[in-house]
Amino acid sequence: MEDINLISIAKEALNLAYAPYSNFKVGAALLTKDGKVYTGCNIENASYGATICAERTAIAKAVSEGIYDFDKIAIVCSSDEPALPCGICLQVLNEFMPEAEVIVSNHGEVMVYKVSELLPYAFRLDL
Ligand code: THU
Repeated sequence: MEDINLISIAKEALNLAYAPYSNFKVGAALLTKDGKVYTGCNIENASYGATICAERTAIAKAVSEGIYDFDKIAIVCSSDEPALPCGICLQVLNEFMPEAEVIVSNHGEVMVYKVSELLPYAFRLDL
């Protein structure tokens, strides 16, 4: 799937964001190696720390269905600046897709990074 199509799906997911506290809406579209897309949005909570980011919503949906192989993820947000994944989301993305592409877009501008580029010194448990 082309990046632009994945971005469009992320924009649809953004419309489902539950963000009454920040009014900052985020949408994510996670493409699996099999070509399936899992979407996610941020889900806020009155206890702010219980908020779930869009990226982790998408990952949780996929992994809870036994899907672990991902190709790339597109992320859009409601602000004027494109939003990169937060540190916690990068750590979670690193767990499942360290070499996958992170596509961030806003107002037609598209930027592509690798998870490992955004979090080069991720925490690892070498068991
Ligand atoms: N948020 C995300 O959904 N993804 C990120 O990577 C960073 C932040 C959400 C959480 C919260 O609902 C809002 O953006 C403002 O922090």
